[in-house]
Amino acid sequence: MSIINSAKEIQEYLQTIRRELHENPEISNKEFKTSKIILRELEKLRNFNIRKNVNGNGIIAELIGAKEGKTIALRADMDALQIEEETGLSFESKNKGVMHACGHDNHMTMVLGAAYLLSKRKDELSGKVRFIFQPAEELSPNGGAKGMIKEGALEGVDAIFSMHVWPDLPLGKVGIKEGPLMAASDHFTVTIKGKPSHAAKPNEGIDALVTGAQYVTAVQTIVSRNADPMKSMVITIGKMQAGSRYNIVAGECVLEGTCRTFAPEMRDLAEKRLKEVLDGVCLLSGCTGELNYERGYMAVLNEEKMTKYMSDKIKELYGDEALVEVEPAMTAEDFSFYLNEVPGAFAWIGTTGEGEKVWPLHNSHYNPNEGVLWRGAALLTKLVLDFNK
Ligand code: NI
Repeated sequence: MSIINSAKEIQEYLQTIRRELHENPEISNKEFKTSKIILRELEKLRNFNIRKNVNGNGIIAELIGAKEGKTIALRADMDALQIEEETGLSFESKNKGVMHACGHDNHMTMVLGAAYLLSKRKDELSGKVRFIFQPAEELSPNGGAKGMIKEGALEGVDAIFSMHVWPDLPLGKVGIKEGPLMAASDHFTVTIKGKPSHAAKPNEGIDALVTGAQYVTAVQTIVSRNADPMKSMVITIGKMQAGSRYNIVAGECVLEGTCRTFAPEMRDLAEKRLKEVLDGVCLLSGCTGELNYERGYMAVLNEEKMTKYMSDKIKELYGDEALVEVEPAMTAEDFSFYLNEVPGAFAWIGTTGEGEKVWPLHNSHYNPNEGVLWRGAALLTKLVLDFNK
């Protein structure tokens, strides 16, 4: 039977698992029940070597093929978000204020589906398959990927693949591109200290609020004047807090922001200029300033050969028109850490059926079309089966 047909055959099973996971979402590093569900399903399949409680609630399962060959890893993330679900689905979240709004329930199900399909085709399988279920993807800057790698998830792995559900793409399409796909995501905090005084005697104080305002404005020139226009950079200051009362000169101003880049040199530039601009505005006012720049996830960089391989498999499985060459997104993913260690590729799999409304990821209404489940499981299966051919 073709991979597509085998995958379609287990769609009902996949839906049941996905709905169970969806009903029981858990936030980063609290994926206890989630981990149990996955373990239960993997154990049903037998012939897997399973390691549980890897880096917290992570699971690594390995399937050894009948013939010699390379080791391919497939990765799914496990955590949900602190969002109150508003989909109105019959299998809506039972955990108040927590929802699988980033679709990780689908990722786990697709990888489980591949585990199921591959275990049935063990005789055709060369080499090994490593199934990586990773906790805490949403916990930037300290996501679960680094810990999984530390605990040996990539030992002996020749290539790694993963997918993210993607509402901007129609069901049946898969988006991929070589090189940068998702951005590096950093978080920074700026603390500006001045001296409070009576509002009517500003000359006796040093105004941290005015300095903060100048900083916000001056920072805008980093992207517009310092950055190479051909290379992407986003700097957003999303939070600013200063002052205690309308008639007191503010003694302190705290700002927080994020910086998104693809190229490592752009990341270095952003950090350097954020500090220099801070020193500049503080010199102007007499305040002192401190920048705490925290590097989060690195950019997702798809390796050339593996991207080509995955693109070919998408076309072979679903036809040429299924493959979409996408533009990169400024969102981040800690799959980047695996790609930094071994060759591999990350793709976006479409989840919006015909006539369905597009709700973005991290939205309380996000409701991917479940047709993505068998499609995803089939593609992951094909990536593994054909790798050693
Ligand atoms: Ni996600």
